[in-house]
Amino acid sequence: MRVLVTGGAGFIGSALVRYLVAEQGYEVLNVDKLTYAGNLASLKAIDNHAGYRFLKADICDRKTMAEAFASFRPDRVMHLAAESHVDRSITGAQDFVETNVMGTFSLLETARHYFAGLDAASRERFRFLHVSTDEVYGSLGDDGLFREDTPYDPSSPYSASKAASDHLAKAWQRTYQLPVVVSNCSNNYGPYHFPEKLIPLTILNALAGRELPVYGRGENIRDWLYVEDHARALDAIIARGRIGETYNVGGRNERRNIDVVRRICEVLDQRVPVSGSRQELIRFVTDRPGHDARYAIDATKLEDELGWRALETFDTGIEKTVDWYLQNAWWWEPLRQSYDGQRLGILPTAEAKAG
Ligand code: NAD
Ligand code: TYD
Repeated sequence: MRVLVTGGAGFIGSALVRYLVAEQGYEVLNVDKLTYAGNLASLKAIDNHAGYRFLKADICDRKTMAEAFASFRPDRVMHLAAESHVDRSITGAQDFVETNVMGTFSLLETARHYFAGLDAASRERFRFLHVSTDEVYGSLGDDGLFREDTPYDPSSPYSASKAASDHLAKAWQRTYQLPVVVSNCSNNYGPYHFPEKLIPLTILNALAGRELPVYGRGENIRDWLYVEDHARALDAIIARGRIGETYNVGGRNERRNIDVVRRICEVLDQRVPVSGSRQELIRFVTDRPGHDARYAIDATKLEDELGWRALETFDTGIEKTVDWYLQNAWWWEPLRQSYDGQRLGILPTAEAKAG
């Protein structure tokens, strides 16, 4: 099995590539532009493996991508390359539109031309998995869950760009019969997570004795999935998912942000005791503009149709994650030199007031 993965040097992409190479024994071509979020150190465990290859390229570069398809001849494409941080999208949406919208368009076109040139047996086998987020569905109130038929209602430039890319992927299936499947997943956490997102940022700031910013009152809810559970889900979806369908991915682990931050402090206090508690570092700060209140996934379709189950609960996964950061400073210390955890995504006062 030959799998072309885009964004394989990122957080989820690297977990997926490690899984496909080490556990499934697939041949993988990882295509990644290596933005600030791409890190080849995340692939150290498999980068000498005979089945693994890396190509530094931008998915928007049609010529290079067409050559990569022609020489690697993938059976499957798993498309994860994206700009992924909501806060960065608030203050600079350009890269999000270029990579998430135009990049996905370019990749779909490249895949379509490659697919058209395949023989009948290869066409039968070929699949394109477009990897997306539950944030395309917007925000939930206190009740209900996101299902595959929940209407799209994105709030942030990030989720709007992902929503656009999902529509393109679905349209390429309906119009050109490209065998596309789409997955929409809830918030991931785990090892090799760039320390700009809530969980790794909190772990590293707490370890450094720095303040822990919690947006608003910390009552927003996210549905947390351990990244290795997501990697297994993606492999199941591309292997056995139905063409043209969407599969929601989530671990039924809803938590308020404040409870996530408190739990990280508790685990760290047990592992590396300090006088007092790290919870004293928590600070409630100005809310994120357009902050979605609650995300929660109904993963019944994925569970019933494809037999997938999340193996980690939040309680087991968060301990593993904290322990990983404690044991792998070699991975995150260089990243803190380039981004040291300052607040992102704040609008100038006038713009914020107008909103
Ligand atoms: P990430 O930011 O950690 O990694 C993105 C990767 O894409 C990086 O390695 C980066 O270098 C690469 N990339 C960016 N622009 C590129 C371009 N133009 N060409 C080639 N490579 C490029 O992101 P992540 O958290 O691993 O997310 C991966 C995918 O999963 C994204 O599509 C995201 O929308 C989706 N997703 C993420 C989450 C989450 O909780 N992180 C949840 C659901 C879905
Ligand atoms: P984040 O990890 O950025 O993921 P997303 O915005 O894609 O859900 O944020 C998770 C939640 O944590 C979100 O409700 C915003 C909040 N948050 C904080 O309270 N403090 C922080 O420093 C960060 C980065 C996020």
